[in-house]
Amino acid sequence: MKHIFREGDDLKGPTLLLLHGTGGTEEDLLPLVDYIDSKANVLSVRGNVSENGMPRFFKRLAEGVFDEEDLIFRTQELYEFLDQAAEDYGFDRQNVIAVGYSNGANIAGSLLFHYKDAVRAASLHHPMVPRRGVELPDLTDKSVFIAAGTNDPICPAQESEDLQAFLTDAGADVTLHWESQGHQLNLGEIKASMNWYQQLS
Ligand code: MLT
Repeated sequence: MKHIFREGDDLKGPTLLLLHGTGGTEEDLLPLVDYIDSKANVLSVRGNVSENGMPRFFKRLAEGVFDEEDLIFRTQELYEFLDQAAEDYGFDRQNVIAVGYSNGANIAGSLLFHYKDAVRAASLHHPMVPRRGVELPDLTDKSVFIAAGTNDPICPAQESEDLQAFLTDAGADVTLHWESQGHQLNLGEIKASMNWYQQLS
């Protein structure tokens, strides 16, 4: 997958996996690294799907309606890419922390829904529930931060609450953070994500 890798202070330390929103690229979320952990390794990936020229991480049938078959295929593709990237660059595969926005948060959520060991923790900004009616893996020891907007037209409040409940039921430690905002990524939630990140042991 097209990506940027930047080695940080310690290859055994955390690697931030950056996942952009629809129409974004692997450059988009790089400025967040200075807020979250400027010493971390960074793996920023571009989604392999093109929707009318806009990169995404998986296909959708309509706004908010996901192509489940493609979602499953693309989630596996990203999972395998992470394994390969860890081998190629030498970072610790067990210490990957996803930071995703919108469509990127949804593929990060899908990694958690399908694989026990895809990431160590995840900061999900304006995510939806990737799939319903599936049994999640055991997510004990996983920490998840969810940032949601009370006026988000793409992710209604119930969607964020359902996602929190599914992940919590699977054993994850979930923080749900609300901003009086819409779907955009905003400074308040980035600061809250920084606080969550600093408390990861
Ligand atoms: C998605 O398709 O992943 C969500 O609707 C968010 C978006 O990318 O617009």
